[in-house]
Amino acid sequence: MDKFIIEGPTPLKGVIPISGSKNAALPLMAASLLAETPTTINLTPRLKDIYTFNNVIRVTGTEVEFKEDQNQLVIDPSKLNFPEAPYDLVRRMRASFYMLGALIGRAGEAKVSLPGGCAWGPRPVDLHLKGFEAMGINISLEEGYVIASVDNETVEGGEFTLEPSSVGATINLVLGAVKKAKKFVIKNAAKEPDVVLLCNTLNKMGANIKGAGTGTITVKKVDKLHGIEVSNDPDRIETGTLMIAAAMHPESDVTLTGCKPEHLGTFPDSFKKIGVHFEINGSEISITPNGGINPVSIETEIYPGFPTDLQAQWATLMTQAEGTSTVTDNIYYDRFSYVPELRRLGADLSVDKNKVTINGKNQLSGTSVMSTDLRASVSLVMAAMVAKGKSDILRVYHLDRGYEQLEKKLNAVGASITRTNQE
Ligand code: EPZ
Repeated sequence: MDKFIIEGPTPLKGVIPISGSKNAALPLMAASLLAETPTTINLTPRLKDIYTFNNVIRVTGTEVEFKEDQNQLVIDPSKLNFPEAPYDLVRRMRASFYMLGALIGRAGEAKVSLPGGCAWGPRPVDLHLKGFEAMGINISLEEGYVIASVDNETVEGGEFTLEPSSVGATINLVLGAVKKAKKFVIKNAAKEPDVVLLCNTLNKMGANIKGAGTGTITVKKVDKLHGIEVSNDPDRIETGTLMIAAAMHPESDVTLTGCKPEHLGTFPDSFKKIGVHFEINGSEISITPNGGINPVSIETEIYPGFPTDLQAQWATLMTQAEGTSTVTDNIYYDRFSYVPELRRLGADLSVDKNKVTINGKNQLSGTSVMSTDLRASVSLVMAAMVAKGKSDILRVYHLDRGYEQLEKKLNAVGASITRTNQE
């Protein structure tokens, strides 16, 4: 098990290329199973979650080739013959549950493990299951597995409203409906760019989907899909994370390249308010702090609102703001395991229900801290980079799930991060 040793404080100066998005690549990988010819996904990040999903997909008899040096994934589902996803793999990554929609769509049947627990509270999949039942799919639960089947080649479909709106349920229901449902309408559907890329890609494969990105998605059955070559989106959460990391040190000067700023939703509006100079030029974002950071409170919302996947990073930034601010998470009510760890670094913040109050500005000092999940762990790295002295960030395997070569990228612009074995 690896840890990071970080020496701080260090400004970040230089250019950082943005990698492909984890949360956009995973649905594309599942979608490839709906065709009977190969699909190529470019800009696929080299992440633990991608490797895990490759193995989940291989269990079905599908061939997967990952040309890592080119970030290119080739998925050939022509020999798919085993519509199952086992607990031992699904428990490692929740998004493996997309196999349910993909296998219903491809094979008309599926046996998929329910996802296990999560670091921060219950993350149910009830909407996924209720949505499939509303579509006319037979759903039963046996020994921790979802068993799905259809009576006929085509199901009626109908309409289903997601409450709350759910990225995962929207994706799963679209995957299950494209080749099965005469007509299926998803109301209060997620509008995330990951959902839009999935629907656009499926339409290029021959599907009939309308309304992606609008909140109401209508899917009409088609008989056949064909494999294609598609480019994944750049990672909007990595983009937001690195914008925040750059803003945390007054002498930083960073340019992010290969971005899609239009995917950041309302995040740039909050970022503007902190008073750090930044410019968006096409696919490049430059951040050059010029003095203090204003305290700016945020509340997380579904897209295009402030993403919950950036709230931990924002709270960390606010430890360097001149004054008090709050961070409220309206999507996950207890995604705050980073708070006691930031306190160990000398931050002054406290949690009450789903709100953190941060009393900036704090002088942080290096010490040992524990990663607990993907976004919490990157926040500790960002705090350690502005803390005085040496910090140990334990269990960085959490980071490897969602940030491609993070320490390499940060060291290239002046950070001092060493990866070493934790023992
Ligand atoms: C996706 O998770 C992302 N994961 C998450 O990012 C992200 O935090 C989340 O969307 C919200 O933006 C991937 O894309 C792989 P949801 P997902 O279903 O699909 C409730 C990261 O850090 N809900 O939109 O699991 C749920 O409890 C990860 O990269 C139900 O009640 O999220 C939550 O409160 C972490 N029943 C809300 O909806 C359901 O059946 C939104 O969850 C499904 C969800």
